[in-house]
Amino acid sequence: MISAAVDAVLRREKEFSAENVPDLSGKTALFTGATSGVGLEVAKVLAFKRARVLILARNEDNPDEALEQIRAYSSENGGHDPNVIFIPCDLSRLEEVKRVGDEVCERESRLDIVPCV
Ligand SMILES: NC(=O)c1ccc[n+]([C@@H]2O[C@H](COP(=O)([O-])OP(=O)(O)OC[C@H]3O[C@@H](n4cnc5c(N)ncnc54)[C@H](OP(=O)(O)O)[C@@H]3O)[C@@H](O)[C@H]2O)c1
Repeated sequence: MISAAVDAVLRREKEFSAENVPDLSGKTALFTGATSGVGLEVAKVLAFKRARVLILARNEDNPDEALEQIRAYSSENGGHDPNVIFIPCDLSRLEEVKRVGDEVCERESRLDIVPCV
């Protein structure tokens, strides 16, 4: 069921911006397709708000550049050094998705946020 707050944003009765995102200390986010475009922009905010952010993509968009942009966003906004990790994964290959999923489950003790935009 959609919350009243999300409903208000969708109806454009209420503005929503990065400033509305609460502190995410202690939270872990796993984010597919976050090395460019809308995914990268959301990842910048999650990392700035202190979430540990795991970024999954194929490695074709130069992940170092994406990580650098996330760090730069945090730095420019007076933030900390973000906790961001790039995990190579081609999501069109199911066996790779399964392998990476198993690795993440083994390595991470928690998963709080899985953005779907
Ligand atoms: N997690 C999400 O829900 C999510 C994230 C991003 C975009 N989107 C959706 O995508 C649409 C367009 O967004 P956009 O133009 O900003 O970005 P986009 O071009 O659709 O997606 C770019 C991102 O997806 C990654 N990607 C593409 N194919 C992939 C694959 N086979 N395996 C793993 N990663 C892959 C790219 O990295 P590589 O090329 O390096 O793989 C890059 O990080 C929108 O409708 C948006 O809602 C959703």
